[in-house]
Amino acid sequence: MGKQGDGTWMKQMGMIGAQRGAPTIAAGEIHLWFDAMEAPTAQILTLRQTLPADELARAKRFHFERDRRRFIVARGLLRQLLGSYLALPPPELRFTYSDHGKPALLAAQNPHGLQFNLSHSGEMMCVGVTRGRAIGVDIEQVRPIDDMMGIAASFFSPRENEMLAAVPADQRELAFFYCWTRKEAYIKAQGQGLSIPLDSFDVTLVPGEEARLLAVRNTQPDEAARWTMQAFAPVTGYVAAAVVKQM
Ligand SMILES: CC(C)(COP(=O)(O)OP(=O)(O)OC[C@H]1O[C@@H](n2cnc3c(N)ncnc32)[C@H](O)[C@@H]1OP(=O)(O)O)[C@@H](O)C(=O)NCCC(=O)NCCS
Repeated sequence: MGKQGDGTWMKQMGMIGAQRGAPTIAAGEIHLWFDAMEAPTAQILTLRQTLPADELARAKRFHFERDRRRFIVARGLLRQLLGSYLALPPPELRFTYSDHGKPALLAAQNPHGLQFNLSHSGEMMCVGVTRGRAIGVDIEQVRPIDDMMGIAASFFSPRENEMLAAVPADQRELAFFYCWTRKEAYIKAQGQGLSIPLDSFDVTLVPGEEARLLAVRNTQPDEAARWTMQAFAPVTGYVAAAVVKQM
């Protein structure tokens, strides 16, 4: 993954747990990290020790042990990763939350204005990191979905539904998840949750076509041009997308 047409550098950085030292990020760069959320119990216990009381309380509330373990690994690896950028011990990081729940670093701990976003699906997580630019990421395990076209009809825009229906049947599942991850990444970059109607904007979805925000309605006419979008496939069986505010 390299330089985009708009001068943005997207770098697929590799596995969070394998990263050593302090990564540096330049102003125009976007770093994309991933990892598995399944881990041996000893590693989960180590990561658990890095979580503050509010995150431990959240971990306790999961009904299923598997979800609890995955949450601990995701938060633990997120803290490890951001701590390495900031040269801070993972337990000392403090997150603040927007009204819609998007976590961010506490300004006092964040001299270079790092922004990040986390996503998880199945066994995988991914994290996008920028300097001073809003970012949203979404990862999805490509899997059969009951009533896929019905879900698309409910959540995707008319233009996206037309494009999806025209995709050959054997590629439609992949196209569905391209659309889903790109829409979700845009929503997450904005950080407003579903207060942005899902049918108020269009993304590309045809396999082989560049990931792009095609149009955004009900807002400024140049809204689509204010964001850059990138699709990536961190591991086989998963697709992911990142959306970042232009500099
Ligand atoms: C959080 C939200 C924005 C995404 O949830 P999701 O897709 O289930 O989950 P993801 O794994 O991609 O992202 C969750 C992570 O995003 C971060 N997050 C939470 N709220 C967020 C927000 N408002 N904006 C951006 N990121 C947010 C958190 O780090 C969270 O993980 P954590 O709680 O374990 O730390 C969810 O509230 C939402 O609105 N989902 C829309 C679902 C939908 O109908 N999508 C249709 C797409 S076509």
